[in-house]
Amino acid sequence: MILVTGCTGFVGSALVRRLVNEGYKVRGLARRTQGFKDRETPAIQIVSGDIQDPASLQSALQGVNTVIHLVGILVEKGGNTFTGVHAQGVRNLVTAAQKAGVQRFVHMSALGTRPHAKSQYHQSKWQGEEAVRQSGLSYTIFRPSVIFGPRDEFVNQLAKMIRYSPIAPILGDGKARMQPIWVEDVVRCFAESLKNPLTHGQLYELGGPHQLTFREVIAAIVNAMGRKRWMVSLPFPFLQLEAALLEKLPNPPLTRDQLIMAREDNICDNRLMRQTFGFEPRSFQDGLRDYYLDQ
Ligand SMILES: NC(=O)c1ccc[n+]([C@@H]2O[C@H](COP(=O)([O-])OP(=O)(O)OC[C@H]3O[C@@H](n4cnc5c(N)ncnc54)[C@H](OP(=O)(O)O)[C@@H]3O)[C@@H](O)[C@H]2O)c1
Repeated sequence: MILVTGCTGFVGSALVRRLVNEGYKVRGLARRTQGFKDRETPAIQIVSGDIQDPASLQSALQGVNTVIHLVGILVEKGGNTFTGVHAQGVRNLVTAAQKAGVQRFVHMSALGTRPHAKSQYHQSKWQGEEAVRQSGLSYTIFRPSVIFGPRDEFVNQLAKMIRYSPIAPILGDGKARMQPIWVEDVVRCFAESLKNPLTHGQLYELGGPHQLTFREVIAAIVNAMGRKRWMVSLPFPFLQLEAALLEKLPNPPLTRDQLIMAREDNICDNRLMRQTFGFEPRSFQDGLRDYYLDQ
């Protein structure tokens, strides 16, 4: 039995589908399970739990030998803070996993995670990674660049802005680079890591075949939508003010912490990924064909 935390999310849904197709039995954990219970089959159980609430993890881990930990947030909401979820939450899960006799722990981090990172997102992800490294469990850590796929937030949110506006907004000079990776390529690495002992104790940076500037990403989306838009650079001081205001909304589309990350390159050398997992990742331009961006 594999416990997948964050099973109702963008990556979690794709991973659960893949694992079940490969014949695994999966227990999925998230806080809100309403609306997801109908996904239960003999191979999928959905349980409610909060990684900030250690008591809720005990029963979720009963009979589990492998944990795949995907829970993460881009925006803090109420008590669901970066430190609470990415640092303390991982410690809670690791402790519960040790008690439950779990053998394998596969952990989702993010590219850019490092000690003394500038963003709180990356700082807290570093603390989570450290908890996994020091756990004594047989672990694998993945650090993807931005993940894309038809149900993502990243492309769909940008497409929404482009659809309803005569301009395509560029963050700053638009030169920061990223290496978008197809969601099915990400979940393939997770699933393969369960079968490949060489991945034990390893960290993999995951990135697609191309390093694209933010401007190139926007151009690819505009092109895939079959539209023509003026690309307008929005200076970071203006965006800071805008983000500070947007943070007052219940679901802010942009935060100051995200702006810190948007100024950094988010790229990697994906050779280890390609060698270990034996595939060539899908390109951003090709993947965009699977979206319904015109609606
Ligand atoms: N998407 C990307 O481009 C990207 C890139 C690099 C790394 N990552 C990492 O990949 C992971 C998955 O990302 P995603 O895009 O799939 O995120 P997502 O769609 O927002 O899904 C997050 C999942 O975590 C659950 N969750 C949030 N807080 C929780 C808590 N306190 N206890 C239990 N469950 C909780 C959510 O369900 P509830 O809210 O109902 O609890 C949901 O199932 C995250 O760790 C993220 O940092 C993502």
